[in-house]
Amino acid sequence: MRIHLEEAIALLKKGEVVAIPTETVYGLAADASNPEALQKIYTVKERPATNPLIVHLANSQQVDDWATEFPPLAKKLAQAFWPGPLTLVLNAKSHVSSILTAGQSTVALRVPNHPIALQLLAQSGLALAAPSANKYTQLSPTTAAHVEAGLGKDIPVLEGGASKVGIESTIVHVFQDAQKNWQWQLLRQGMVSEATIKSVAGKSATTKETLQELPKVPGQHALHYSPRTPLHLCLTREALIESIELSALNKKSCAALMFEDDANVQPYSCVVKKLAKNPEEYAEHLYASLHALDALNVEQLFVELPPNENAWLPVLDRLKRAAHSD
Ligand code: TXA
Ligand code: MG
Repeated sequence: MRIHLEEAIALLKKGEVVAIPTETVYGLAADASNPEALQKIYTVKERPATNPLIVHLANSQQVDDWATEFPPLAKKLAQAFWPGPLTLVLNAKSHVSSILTAGQSTVALRVPNHPIALQLLAQSGLALAAPSANKYTQLSPTTAAHVEAGLGKDIPVLEGGASKVGIESTIVHVFQDAQKNWQWQLLRQGMVSEATIKSVAGKSATTKETLQELPKVPGQHALHYSPRTPLHLCLTREALIESIELSALNKKSCAALMFEDDANVQPYSCVVKKLAKNPEEYAEHLYASLHALDALNVEQLFVELPPNENAWLPVLDRLKRAAHSD
């Protein structure tokens, strides 16, 4: 059910959930200060309560409402990347609902870079908790239509076009070590790369060995971001073609996702989608491509693996999780 901004604000203030656009993926939003509303997110998503939620803010001034401290290192990152696809995990204030943090002492915060999301946050005056607007472990949505396909037509959706970044935000944990120095650690890969964060932070991520205690990263279990159709990763173009040929021999229907560089590949009756061999463009269209291939109801999906290079790490992470059911 598509709704207008005013209806979205009214519903959210009443403690209802609303799917909202962001630049990364669509989120399933609720008033972050209302425990009953937060509970509804878990119910709709069928998500375990051990998996904490990201709080979306209108601007970085609101960080102080949620975090005990906004350390200089985190401020630098916020200044460089907000609004944008970076989530900061900081120490939570005591009033922050344990439904939001899943009982942890930290809270995840982000200012999204989407005009409608920012308008919603500013006009409502609310901070909005929002995980991706899909059922637990399923593919994240990058359009309003994906949300409705995954959660049903009754879910209220604020339309905002296709998400431009296309995969979930980078998550960075900022914390104090035993010597009281501020350190950072990457909890989830995203389109803000580790190298870019390092250059802004002025120091490398902390290695696991030097950490006092490993931060918990719930919701990062291997089976995530998965289409319903079994997905197989193929290391090379040749391996991909072989897999398709084998499927044809075995009379198994299949579809494939490959790079655009080789224009004339159209093997057998396999439906082929092609994406640019460029990490930003690939990320933008990845989930939409997987949603489309999944909707074909074929027996197998084959994906040509991107190069094992730093710029491809966030995409490789999502593809490996999507393929885990192998
Ligand atoms: O791009 C995004 O981040 C999207 C859009 C909607 O903003 N949201 C998103 O939310 O991907 P979700 O729930 O699918 O993923 C949130 C991740 C989870 O893996 C969770 O473990 C982690 O954030 N997280 C949330 N709070 C945390 C905390 N206090 N400490 C560590 N990890 C946390
Ligand atoms: Mg998710």
